Amino acid sequence: LPQQLSLASYSVSDGDLVLVNRDVALQEEPDNLATIPYDIADNVIVNSEYFLEEQAIEPLDQLFHAAADAGIEHFIINSAYRSGTLQKQLFDQYGADYSLPAGYSEHQTGLSLDIGSTAGKTENVDEGKWLEEHAADFGFILRYPEDKVDVTGINYEPWHFRYIGLPHSIKMQQHAFAFEEYIAYLKEKQFYKMKVNDTTYFVQYTDNKTS
Ligand code: DAL
Ligand code: ZN
Repeated sequence: LPQQLSLASYSVSDGDLVLVNRDVALQEEPDNLATIPYDIADNVIVNSEYFLEEQAIEPLDQLFHAAADAGIEHFIINSAYRSGTLQKQLFDQYGADYSLPAGYSEHQTGLSLDIGSTAGKTENVDEGKWLEEHAADFGFILRYPEDKVDVTGINYEPWHFRYIGLPHSIKMQQHAFAFEEYIAYLKEKQFYKMKVNDTTYFVQYTDNKTS
């Protein structure tokens, strides 16, 4: 197979690497939301209309199908894109340890979703264990790991996955970085090259803000 090359500049202000957390507010509403298909895969319940940025849908489809091939059968999607209004309701209801104020939630980017299991608590069942190990292969990261609470400022959320795409998710997993740590790594390194499957990626970090 011919080797493919991808060259892109990545920014933390927009695109798949946009950083939103308790200190960094959402700058732009997502502009390319698509519905998560109700029938995306047989092993996942989608019982409401959920949206994600379009580029995350196909990788999510592949993730669920790979899980099905591994015999993991009991996923349920509990949240995906949230408007500021919905995020405010959740914050008022659950408080600062479990949610973020409107304007500071990654759910507002359209790149995050909460994946639960109908078989038990996510962290105790095969669904959660499989996701923690394999989500990175499809560009998704466990955004609030148990051992990174001091970095993320958010309690362990075994269900919350964030799409950042390849090769970022793989690099993060290899280094056991939290997302904030990966961004710091990119800022310091500016550039790296990495091969994933048959594709060689050149990652160039830029500070440029889109205006
Ligand atoms: N539960 C996550 C932190 C949120 O509200 O965005
Ligand atoms: Zn979440």
